[in-house]
Amino acid sequence: MSKIRNPGLAEQGLVQIEWAEQHMPVVAKFIRERFEKEKPLNGVIVGAVLHVTKETAALVRTLVAGGARVFLAASNPLSTQDDVAAALASQEGIEVCAWRGMNEKEYFDCIRWVASQKPNIVIDDGGDLHATLHKEFPDVAGQVWGGTEETTTGVIRLRAMEKQGVLKYPAIAVNNARTKMMFDNRYGTGQSTIDGILRATNILFAGKKVVVAGYGWVGRGIAMRARGMGARVIVTEVDPIRALEALMDGFDVMPMIEAAKIGDIFITATGNKKVIRREHFEVMKDGAILANAGHFNVEIWIPDLEEMAVSKRTIRKYVTEYKLKDGRKLYLLAEGRLVNLVAAEGHPSEVMDMSFANQALSAEYLVKNRGKLEPRVYLVPDEIDQEVARLKLKAMGVEIDELIPEQVEYLQSWQLE
Ligand code: NAD
Ligand code: ADE
Repeated sequence: MSKIRNPGLAEQGLVQIEWAEQHMPVVAKFIRERFEKEKPLNGVIVGAVLHVTKETAALVRTLVAGGARVFLAASNPLSTQDDVAAALASQEGIEVCAWRGMNEKEYFDCIRWVASQKPNIVIDDGGDLHATLHKEFPDVAGQVWGGTEETTTGVIRLRAMEKQGVLKYPAIAVNNARTKMMFDNRYGTGQSTIDGILRATNILFAGKKVVVAGYGWVGRGIAMRARGMGARVIVTEVDPIRALEALMDGFDVMPMIEAAKIGDIFITATGNKKVIRREHFEVMKDGAILANAGHFNVEIWIPDLEEMAVSKRTIRKYVTEYKLKDGRKLYLLAEGRLVNLVAAEGHPSEVMDMSFANQALSAEYLVKNRGKLEPRVYLVPDEIDQEVARLKLKAMGVEIDELIPEQVEYLQSWQLE
């Protein structure tokens, strides 16, 4: 039985889902129409832990169109869209355990509820479902046909499980598909992180010094979009190659301890912990704004902020003011959780169309290859990655060139003419 905030929001949620699906032709039209005909997931139990958004709803409805039964829990206590959860819970074949503002215990209880459904296929965002299955439900994990992982942090955790030899089922790193990472992590997070900061604060970006921690796919997207709004962007990194890339992309690069003294807005995007901590809070300007786009709320080290503060109050929704001993005020957005999903609506539907097309096709691949794959971490098969790009271009009405036979031969030969 579903556990959601308010079933009365179902009608409103359905309209939001329809709006998302209008912008998700690959998942909600091309793949869904084929799934409806072929039923590749007939009778399959899918356990999913994803942000419960209108875009996730489009994926879930496509899995159900393919014949699956879906049990869905939230992948963050603050990211659930309650109207969407209600709409999904009202549909045949879908059960939901998610509401915005759940506490840590409720969050893990919902994940345990998914695990206890004995899923055949598991779809996770961040690795909490994979970890819970392995730690608390080893027998269920041993029976899982295969899993997928939506985000960088979850893939890191899966690879650590593989390295330790404890991974019990084959897992596909959907995050690492080119049609996911290059678009979702970069353009999706780039736009929606700025959107979250703007909705929470309504501040002007033009002329501000924005410090972006981490220059991976997410950091690149945020830095690019912040610059586009007239901000002066500083990047911090620990990887010398990525630091060089940021420099040559035209951004200032320096250690966080230097950036901390001059930044107006700080955005973490590293997937690492304690990236902004006591020594940095100590030198920040009065009024500095702190936001996180990385998966977990550990990048801005809140325990230090809590210890240093003499008082704390909520200024606006998702804006917490920490007053320090010397009178300076620092503003933490969205409790240090993913600002784009908490204070805004996450990535726009158009980009989730590609991420979730990879999820749907990877789930189908795992079912087709049941029993044939080792318990390892796999990349999304290149045919699926290419197919997602092909379908997206088709939906956008864009055609591209094809190699002529001489070019195919030329690209395969070493005696060049
Ligand atoms: P990535 O591995 O491509 O990039 C992370 C970068 O951070 C790397 O270049 C690394 O060197 C750097 N880094 C690590 N520790 C650092 C430190 N202490 N200081 C400065 N830089 C440091 O990963 P990514 O795909 O860009 O993802 C980053 C995070 O964002 C992950 O947690 C991922 O799960 C999450 N993510 C969030 C969303 C969202 O919707 N908010 C979307 C996609 C990914
Ligand atoms: N991750 C980032 N944006 C998202 C969205 N709109 N829906 C689900 N997961 C997301």
